[in-house]
Amino acid sequence: MYSEKVMDHFQNPRNVGEIENASGVGTVGNAKCGDIMRIYLDIDDNQIIQDCKFKTFGCGAAVATSSMATELVKGKTIEEALKVTNKAVMEALDGLPPVKVHCSLLAEEAIHAALWDYAEKHGIKIEGLSKPK
Ligand code: FES
Ligand code: FES
Repeated sequence: MYSEKVMDHFQNPRNVGEIENASGVGTVGNAKCGDIMRIYLDIDDNQIIQDCKFKTFGCGAAVATSSMATELVKGKTIEEALKVTNKAVMEALDGLPPVKVHCSLLAEEAIHAALWDYAEKHGIKIEGLSKPK
C-alpha cells in the first residue's frame, strides 16, 4: 500500500523537533480528525531557509509527508519553498494511497503558515502567499 520512500520517512523521519527562536512557525490542523502539524523555519538575512523542523500528531502518511517536506524546503529560497506543494511532496515520496492524500495537505499548509508568520514578524509581503485559514 505504501511506497518504500513513505515507509522510510515514516520509520526514520528527518528533521523532527523544534527550532528555538524560529524565524517562522506554522501550526495547522484538520478540525475533523484533530490531527495537528507544526513546522518551524530558520530563515537567514538572504531569505534562504537554513533549517526546518516539524512536529506532527497524525498518521504515518502525515509523518512521512512532513519529513519529506522539511527535506525539500531546506536550503531553498522562500520563492522556491512556495513551490513545495503537496503534489510535489507526494511525487518525491513516489505517491500516496488516495485516502491519504488529504494528510499531505497539512505539510503544504504548515509551510505556508510558517512563511506567513515569518513575513508578519519581519513586516514583509511574500508574493503569492495568502493568509492561512
Ligand atoms: Fe490523520 Fe493522516 S494525518 S489520517
Ligand atoms: Fe486527519 Fe487524515 S484523518 S488528516
